[in-house]
Amino acid sequence: MSEKVVVTGAAGFIGSHLCEALLNDGYQVLGIDSFNPNYDVRIKRINIDEISGNGDFELIESSLNDLDLEKHVADAGAVFHLAAQPGVRDSWSRRFDEYIDANIRATQVLCEACRGKPLKRFVYASSSSVYGDTEQLPMNEAHPTKPHSPYGVTKLSGEALCLLYKRNFGLPAVALRFFTVYGPRQRPDMAFHKFIAGGLDGNPIEIYGNGTQTRDFTFVSDIVDACMRAKDYHGEESVFNIGGGSRIALNDALDILTGALPNEGVEVIFSDPVKGDVMHTYADIALARNELGYEPKMGMEEGIVREIEWVGSMRRKLHSE
Ligand code: NAD
Ligand code: UGA
Repeated sequence: MSEKVVVTGAAGFIGSHLCEALLNDGYQVLGIDSFNPNYDVRIKRINIDEISGNGDFELIESSLNDLDLEKHVADAGAVFHLAAQPGVRDSWSRRFDEYIDANIRATQVLCEACRGKPLKRFVYASSSSVYGDTEQLPMNEAHPTKPHSPYGVTKLSGEALCLLYKRNFGLPAVALRFFTVYGPRQRPDMAFHKFIAGGLDGNPIEIYGNGTQTRDFTFVSDIVDACMRAKDYHGEESVFNIGGGSRIALNDALDILTGALPNEGVEVIFSDPVKGDVMHTYADIALARNELGYEPKMGMEEGIVREIEWVGSMRRKLHSE
């Protein structure tokens, strides 16, 4: 009998790739996803379309906040907690309630359910947004956490919850701080997805600020690899940066992206910076390298081409419905 693992946020961008990798490795996967309307739910259905027919995959369509989670995690070997309300720039104002429910409340409910269970690993999808705006680059895990967005505050709270359940009840938690993830299935609110869609449609691409902000972009298969390594980790560390290994200015990333699009002459407009956005991110990944054996593999030229191909195929599927 193969081992059971639980993946929350299973129909999302990163969660759906992780489920595929786990199924390929022979695990029985229980996916939980609320299919919330944060973005077009048809995209989430397409994300898990292929694995839906796999006999080792079971899907529960519900919010974590509404489930009797204990019975679902009781016989699991590992839990990957990716469900969240993501997105830095939308986390202001009344929408903050959604961030509290999904990122803090749901994490607490899940930690409670996992308490005292024979789990070997609990992997929490944390975020570079816990660090905030800094000139101290690259940032390592000891860098002060000073979130610059309400989203970052909730992701840091979620991380703190996992680690306090570890200290108090021995929850085998590790937090992986992902740095701006891209690739096939990237969320439609994220930069590359928006730029590709704008470019393909002949609409202007909007850059917030002057484009000199830098990001440590990380391809989704590298993130999945880090999750798999964290599952098998037996060491004592609790928090790891998971980045792509370099940083690039947004303007330079856009040059690579427009160069890879089939159409030429993409119009770019520069608008005001958006509150909550940090200027720079750059992960020091030495700890993940040393402890997890993590090494990012995907280069940006190839990674962007893969995302462009996916945006095209996803849109064809949506139009044929
Ligand atoms: P996503 O929105 O594509 O996936 C999250 C999924 O969680 C969605 O399908 C949503 O329906 C589900 N969900 C939300 N609230 C839920 C709840 N209460 N119960 C059950 N399901 C719920 O987002 P993503 O980009 O794949 O992000 C996955 C995780 O990685 C999140 O925790 C996010 O904070 C973290 N992260 C993402 C990035 C990135 O660049 N994409 C970077 C850092 C961290
Ligand atoms: C991303 C994810 O959206 C968050 O969920 C995640 O937690 C965060 O990474 C992280 O690393 O922790 P972000 O870096 O804002 O957040 O990712 P993108 O949406 O890809 O934005 C990258 C850059 O492009 C930002 O500077 C943003 O201001 C800019 N941008 C985005 C634009 O200039 N125009 C757009 O239309 C969208």
